[in-house]
Amino acid sequence: MPDRTDFPGGFLFGAATAAYQIEGHSFGGAGETIWDRFAKQPGKVVNSESGAVACDHYHRYEADLDLLAGLDAYRFSTSWARVLPEGRGAVNTEGLDYYDRLVDATLARGLQPFLTLYHWDMPAALQDLGGWTNRDVAKWFADFSEVVIERIGDRVASVATINEPWCVSYLSHFLGHHAPGLQDIAATARAVHHVLLAHGEALERLRARGQKNLGIVINFEATQPATPSAADATATARFDAIMNRMFVEPVTRGTYPAQVIEGLGPHLPEKWQDDMAKISAPLDWLGVNYYTRSTIKAAPSSPWPHFEPVATDAAKTQMGWEIYPDGLSETLNRIRQDYTGDLPLYVTENGMAWADQPEAGSVNDVERIAYIDRHLAAIRQAIADGCPIKGFFYWSLLDNFEWAFGYEKRFGLVHVDFDTQKRTPKASYTHYKQIAAR
Ligand code: FCB
Repeated sequence: MPDRTDFPGGFLFGAATAAYQIEGHSFGGAGETIWDRFAKQPGKVVNSESGAVACDHYHRYEADLDLLAGLDAYRFSTSWARVLPEGRGAVNTEGLDYYDRLVDATLARGLQPFLTLYHWDMPAALQDLGGWTNRDVAKWFADFSEVVIERIGDRVASVATINEPWCVSYLSHFLGHHAPGLQDIAATARAVHHVLLAHGEALERLRARGQKNLGIVINFEATQPATPSAADATATARFDAIMNRMFVEPVTRGTYPAQVIEGLGPHLPEKWQDDMAKISAPLDWLGVNYYTRSTIKAAPSSPWPHFEPVATDAAKTQMGWEIYPDGLSETLNRIRQDYTGDLPLYVTENGMAWADQPEAGSVNDVERIAYIDRHLAAIRQAIADGCPIKGFFYWSLLDNFEWAFGYEKRFGLVHVDFDTQKRTPKASYTHYKQIAAR
């Protein structure tokens, strides 16, 4: 079993959550979000579930944070529509007060608060104006960021602007799997660019206020071609450009990969090039989310991007995601070598879903324990290779609302019975706390 002494001094062990997935969005005067709407559309979310109640963390955060005591850091997000129900304008004081208490409660347990400003809960009122496809979203988001930072910026250890821009744009506007559920290449190109512009605008404003430790959280996947054919190699490279390079390249170099321009270029907003300096302003750290590997084959007769994922018989999680720990060390090394150099990296999410059920009051999730150990070993490897990795956040503290999959997919270290809200720490919880024990 790994332990803290296997990692450099100061390495942070934490756990991550996101507002809409745990808080209970029907509480505390929050405004409607795109996920509340999406859940009401037929066939979009398993069992038409939503985050209306979720883990009721809004009322139970004190006890939930007690579960984290002994770790070093807690990664959470602020809900835009909880703070600004219409997305801009009037502040919901109750919402802002809640985050204020949450940060104090985090600090009171000896945990560093790692704030993510946006984890997918776009206010519905702004979606009515186009959401991420409207260029004004950069200003709206930066305004929201300032409202949050004005209140809690003095106590948070770190700030991420956006969680997983690939999901915010491509998964939600091209594949249509996440809210707002579009399948529209023009909307995708605009969303890709505007989410980056919003990041850049917020970075500029927060830095001007003297806020420290500003970053962004990007998701990456390992890839492999389905066959050794040249066509599959080309398709895999295109998948890789969209999945793994479409955001890290703009924020570190101010350019889009050629394979991205080939498809999205004609649909990018006019004069997009003029925004790239703001988008690539220096970061203080980069967050890396990593879960799996995809296997890709060419699909020449389907529209751009002319590829499709194929199933393999590799070991998988409850999500159907391949378990591939080596991909984490490969990903971290590649990011450092190609993009970030000495910039501090955090693994801001990694974890697995499993169909855990308590038996006689406990959950013996040996699969998750193995998953955690193997991914921590991959991080140690990357550190030995020279990567400046400063911390690891398990996804997630609690079983929660797993977006389009509803409550069925359980990622938590702690089991949640969604009928009674009873929390049952799993064996992986005890294991992870032991790893992190000082
Ligand atoms: C990531 C998301 C997080 C959670 C995990 C499983 O893409 O950031 O909210 O859904 O996947």
